[in-house]
Amino acid sequence: MMVASGETDWRTRQLVPGREARQLNQSVHEPAKQVDLLAKFESLCGEKLTVAQKKGLHCHNIAIRALTYGIMDKQMAQYYLREIDSRLKTSTRQAVLDSKGYIFEGQLASTGQSYTSMYYVFRGAGVYCSKVFDVGVAGVEDSMQLEKAVSEVVHSDQACPTLIKVLDAFRAGHHAVLILPLLARSAADLLAAASPGVVDDEATAYVAAGVLAAMAGLAAKGWCHGDIKPANIMLAAGAEKHVVLVDLGACTRFNEKLKEFTEHYALGLPKVASLQWDLACLASTLCILVGIPVKSLSVEGVSKYMTRLGDDLSFGGQLALHILKHLDMVDKVEQLRAVVWDEVMERVRGRLGEEHAATLAAWWPSPL
Ligand SMILES: Nc1ncnc2c1ncn2[C@@H]1O[C@H](COP(=O)(O)OP(=O)(O)O)[C@@H](O)[C@H]1O
Ligand SMILES: [Mg+2]
Repeated sequence: MMVASGETDWRTRQLVPGREARQLNQSVHEPAKQVDLLAKFESLCGEKLTVAQKKGLHCHNIAIRALTYGIMDKQMAQYYLREIDSRLKTSTRQAVLDSKGYIFEGQLASTGQSYTSMYYVFRGAGVYCSKVFDVGVAGVEDSMQLEKAVSEVVHSDQACPTLIKVLDAFRAGHHAVLILPLLARSAADLLAAASPGVVDDEATAYVAAGVLAAMAGLAAKGWCHGDIKPANIMLAAGAEKHVVLVDLGACTRFNEKLKEFTEHYALGLPKVASLQWDLACLASTLCILVGIPVKSLSVEGVSKYMTRLGDDLSFGGQLALHILKHLDMVDKVEQLRAVVWDEVMERVRGRLGEEHAATLAAWWPSPL
């Protein structure tokens, strides 16, 4: 773990009465003054500062002088805040390079949570994806630790090629960082690029198999993913087609209450972690990929809609319908395999041929 040295130093002093009193006796009024200046700066620029930004301001002589003489206005405060942020970024990047050897490049265009950003990262000749969390936001560090812990346990004794594997995790300044294999585009990107109905049988088959296999790897260790949706399903670049389920930040132990999810994917199921929850989210994902509406619908509602389509139901829709019809029969990994996976493989064999079926069959988790 790496936190810039002295980061909480002057702030902590405000919070310890004994030390504060001693400081006043010594006529060192700096910390008290800085609190006033900090409050003034925050009110001028209109936002609360993170710990690292506070430290950055404290070290910024020109900004502190302008504040002390009362010549700073809102525009100037915002200018200095941007400058402080860019100095912090540079020093965090340098610290990460010095201690970990990672070189951060530009940001990936991504549509995740507001407190995470995705970057390209180099190390040696390798190129990776880095998920950077702003730990100034409550609960965010826990979310990063959860992703790391779930990945570790799932990949500890089983090969689970369709679930994201966290390669490295560390703290840098006021950021927590995960290093991940770099993947190309998400199923949401595919959907945005395709006209309705253009996402084909191969794409839906691969998404279904990749997510089911990842779900099995998680379930074997007692975890529900919780937030299966197109934006969390990645398609890898390269000659060999490959699907990876990402974003372990919503993972929840079975039977516990789910805290983070995208409601309309779960088709009205109770908000409790289960294989049924993940399966319903996968079925909705497949529906959305092939242009079947699911918003505000229940499991029964979507199933009825698809059944009515009869022979016009697309391959992806057929897989989704099979999943929804058998939700109640799946409580354990073995049932997931017998009731859903085997049937999906059979249908893939019939629709796309033996070669695709063999590729997908190899994704099911196997002991190491
Ligand atoms: N390993 C990766 N390589 C490339 N892009 C990724 C990777 N993991 C996630 N992404 C992209 O970044 C977005 C946000 O990542 P995600 O892990 O879902 O974070 P959040 O918790 O913010 O939703 C994803 O929707 C996806 O488009
Ligand atoms: Mg996400």
